[in-house]
Amino acid sequence: MTVSHFTIETQTAQDLDTIETMLDAAFGLDRRTRSSYRLREGEEPVEELSLVAREGDCLVGTVRFWPVIVGEGREALLLGPLAVHPDRRNCGIGVRLMETALDKARELGHALVILVGDEPYYRRVGFARVPDGRLVMPGPTDPDRMLYRELVPGALDGAEGLVLSPGRWRELDGGRLTAPRDTRPAREAAAAR
Ligand SMILES: CC(C)(COP(=O)(O)OP(=O)(O)OC[C@H]1O[C@@H](n2cnc3c(N)ncnc32)[C@H](O)[C@@H]1OP(=O)(O)O)[C@@H](O)C(=O)NCCC(=O)NCCS
Repeated sequence: MTVSHFTIETQTAQDLDTIETMLDAAFGLDRRTRSSYRLREGEEPVEELSLVAREGDCLVGTVRFWPVIVGEGREALLLGPLAVHPDRRNCGIGVRLMETALDKARELGHALVILVGDEPYYRRVGFARVPDGRLVMPGPTDPDRMLYRELVPGALDGAEGLVLSPGRWRELDGGRLTAPRDTRPAREAAAAR
């Protein structure tokens, strides 16, 4: 196992190009076509929760969180993207980045975090699968990868419906929206991709 002596710090403007290159390498150049990215369009990540891992001057990991609205007007955070340099994986950097950011998010008063990702990995930091049909992403999403973590107990209770960016929510006068209850089309569409 590789040993990494890394520190976790808040991202700076000088990190941005390196982060984008790392994310292109980790997720591919088509990453912006994913439904999570639709929620990020026109929005800024939460500055205090944009963390990097460094070894000396070298950036070896990145995590960011974006504000979203779930169900009928509930504020939440979308975790991601999360990536660790290929040479520094399996050193605990990904988990430490998330744990540090999630502790900070709770301190800042955030109650609910969602993400689209592999449950066997994210369960290490307390994420679980969103019950079928409760939250609907703006694009085909495998329901097995739709995960949540409550920072305040009960934060998901009663939340049901579309996940939207704050900007889109305002445009659509969100309170008047209702979400489809049947997730089968999303599941089939995701399987067909
Ligand atoms: C996923 C990723 C962020 C993990 O970062 P990392 O720093 O290597 O993770 P950690 O060291 O904290 O944890 C490593 C452990 O998680 C496991 N793990 C890593 N990715 C996993 C996945 N997708 N599913 C299940 N387990 C996973 C490893 O096997 C390892 O297990 P072990 O502790 O039993 O040996 C990194 O591999 C990465 O950047 N991947 C490409 C981008 C990506 O896929 N990001 C989102 C994941 S859905």
